[in-house]
Amino acid sequence: PKIHDLNWRVKNETRAPDGVEREMVLVNGQFPGPVIRAKKGDTLRVHVQNDLAMFNQSTSVHFHGLYQRGTNVMDGVPGVTQCGIPPGSQLTYVFDLKQSGTFWWHSHSKLQRIDGMFGGLIVYDPEETYILGRDYDEEIFIILHDHYHGVGDANLDWYLSKLSTGFEPVPDIGLLNGQGVANCSRIPKRYTCTSGAPRLTFQFKRGQRYRLRILNSSAFSEMTLSIDDHILNVIEVDSTEVEVSSAYFLSISPGQRYSVIVEADSNLDSVYMRTQMQSSCFKYRPYGYKSDFSTVVEYVSPSPTARIKQSTRWLFKNWMPPARPRSSRWNDVLPPDECIDLDVSSLKPKLSLDVPEPDVRYTISPKNMQFDRMHLAPFGFINRTSFLPAIGAPNLQVALGFVNASDTVPVPTISGRQNTAVWGGDQLVTEIPLGSVVELIINNDDEGAHPFHLHGHDFWVLRVYAETKAGIGNWRPEYVSSYVLDNPIRRDVVTIPRLGHAVIRFRADNPGIWAFHCHIAWHLASGMMMQFSVGMDKFDGSSVTDQMLEHCQIERELGAKLI
Ligand code: C2O
Ligand code: CU
Repeated sequence: PKIHDLNWRVKNETRAPDGVEREMVLVNGQFPGPVIRAKKGDTLRVHVQNDLAMFNQSTSVHFHGLYQRGTNVMDGVPGVTQCGIPPGSQLTYVFDLKQSGTFWWHSHSKLQRIDGMFGGLIVYDPEETYILGRDYDEEIFIILHDHYHGVGDANLDWYLSKLSTGFEPVPDIGLLNGQGVANCSRIPKRYTCTSGAPRLTFQFKRGQRYRLRILNSSAFSEMTLSIDDHILNVIEVDSTEVEVSSAYFLSISPGQRYSVIVEADSNLDSVYMRTQMQSSCFKYRPYGYKSDFSTVVEYVSPSPTARIKQSTRWLFKNWMPPARPRSSRWNDVLPPDECIDLDVSSLKPKLSLDVPEPDVRYTISPKNMQFDRMHLAPFGFINRTSFLPAIGAPNLQVALGFVNASDTVPVPTISGRQNTAVWGGDQLVTEIPLGSVVELIINNDDEGAHPFHLHGHDFWVLRVYAETKAGIGNWRPEYVSSYVLDNPIRRDVVTIPRLGHAVIRFRADNPGIWAFHCHIAWHLASGMMMQFSVGMDKFDGSSVTDQMLEHCQIERELGAKLI
């Protein structure tokens, strides 16, 4: 086993991923951020230095999909497992990698994730089913991202004002691995736009098998992906290995990952990789809205020198666009015109685990169009609560007796809402004895889908149901008999379709306080989050680090001066 020491500096920097300049929040100046590659059994030590001095913002890092078994304190959720890392301070996240598969990491503070602070995390394991060199020849990490020209905070202010009437900010463009091509003639004059950026192209060598690890890191948009003339052989769903199942296209919600193996066996010289924001999921689209950001996969002769290096993207003049492919879309199988996960009943985990009977059953209903009566602004809710992080007194430290809930510093937040977040007040915290099996029924009466993510565990997806009329898509007791109980998929993000519901089940076997929230950035930032407090009587408080206690002290002192 290896120890990976990573030094990360978080900073505001100006970048133009699609030619349009904007302020971003970046790790080591990279967008997307660094991809971590490690082996199961290795230790990660990520030293995060917060240099976001300009906006006086604190920061955090969450490693999405890792259970953090025994290391809940390293889960990276401000207000829950830690205080934010204050500007000028450093925090070391240290934990062992006990799982394998495709994960990612991102800031869990404010809207820093969608401002650029995210990247991939791949954990290899010689015991995996699908092995490089045997089952596939090369691997490509593909990140689909919806990108905004405005910074996250400004968009959130708009969303939480009366102006939005509850409609989310709509992304400006889709990016592939952090690159896109804006049409400068359509960009408002207040932006600096440079045209001619090359679009990222992928190269295939004929006869090779490629494993594409695909992540949707979006704020808002579900993404679809297909490759003309090529079948996608799905082998991994989030970080669960599955029996090979072929698909013409994927639809991927924010936070989800898929791995597919693609055989480079086309007779064509180049084909389209069609990537699209599922704009039917947006309730409002500006005129001329373009959701397509497809790219080209071209076959190259086996000479690797034919590759276009990413660094040439600023040398526009020397860049030759690839020939326009003549391939056509798989047209018998268009993606559905709604936001729904890939049909999970066809996806079977390689490792089949018996689904236990539930010990407890909870029903929750998320809402994003519920209006805060005081301010007439839309907030994200679960049942009747809208999450606000407790400043200076994170729930984990309160539960362990390091601080009192009353030590929370009231901080006026967006739209003037007072932060009085306390356990049982603005927060929905459900306490669960260690080892219990929890069945969660999530009814969605909203007009949009909600991709929900559970920290610290993955869950079985027993039922996903989409309805077309309000009010009748809710769960009913007779549905119990239609649950998928024969080796259902296990994953960590499930999409609850609009006006529908989903049923998931998990064994709460990991002590700690775990977030459960919608992964749409606007819904999360406005409070669509709850927590499961699992077996806290068994929790060992010695893992809280001095740095963390210090950061809470600073947070209590700075209070409202932290933005
Ligand atoms: Cu990927 Cu709580 O998030
Ligand atoms: Cu949502």
